[in-house]
Amino acid sequence: MLLVIVAALAIPLQPASALGSGNGVGGGDTAVHPVSGRRIAEVMSHSAADWLDRPERVHEEQPERALGVIGIRPGQVVADVGAGSGYYTVRLARRVAPGGIVYATDIQPEMLALLGKRLAREKVSGVVPVLATPADPKLPDGALDLILMVDVYHELAHPQETLRQLKRTLKPAGRLVLIEFRKEDASVPIRIDHKMSVAEAKLELEAEGFHLAKVSDVLPWQHILIFDLASTLAAAR
Ligand SMILES: C[S@@+](CC[C@H](N)C(=O)[O-])C[C@H]1O[C@@H](n2cnc3c(N)ncnc32)[C@H](O)[C@@H]1O
Repeated sequence: MLLVIVAALAIPLQPASALGSGNGVGGGDTAVHPVSGRRIAEVMSHSAADWLDRPERVHEEQPERALGVIGIRPGQVVADVGAGSGYYTVRLARRVAPGGIVYATDIQPEMLALLGKRLAREKVSGVVPVLATPADPKLPDGALDLILMVDVYHELAHPQETLRQLKRTLKPAGRLVLIEFRKEDASVPIRIDHKMSVAEAKLELEAEGFHLAKVSDVLPWQHILIFDLASTLAAAR
């Protein structure tokens, strides 16, 4: 009986079908981050996008609570990098209205097609879809108040290059927020490569000129990691 329970707990929630496998989407199961030694995860394929819209996600991830912690105001310009089918994009768009903009990026055109359908279905405006590349987010320089990456950073195929590009797109007081499944917690039922520890994120992002300003662990399974620009902090001293 005990064995059955242990085996059930060990099954990763994220389905194997969700993970790319040399499909050219990005990632790669052997890539390693040069600073932390973290194994970079494979990109989640659009063929498993249903997983992003599973009904239980609202309890597991509490997206409105997460956005409340981050603090988003009407009129802000934000980017949902790796937006997928738009689960967070529509919530961001409602929070920056009126007058705000959400750039919703993804490297898979199929994900942007799903996002477009969601925007039409939910009658959401103020969203600019952007087809990014694995190394170039294709966002305007100096324009963003906030960049949000939910369950994305761990699968960036070129994390250092992407962070360097993203740094240029932030306003001086802009923030970069990662929401990542907690690697420190073995009970979180997600594949290990698709989780991040606070130590890994701090090491990798601070090496690229960000500063870890806040960690919130109010969500059931995920860290909310809020970074600002180290250059802005230094200028204020
Ligand atoms: C696990 S899904 C999360 C989607 C969405 N953020 C959500 O929470 O519903 C990861 C997404 O990141 C995208 N992605 C991976 N690397 C990317 C990159 N370098 N730039 C933009 N999107 C990327 C993938 O195509 C995929 O749609």
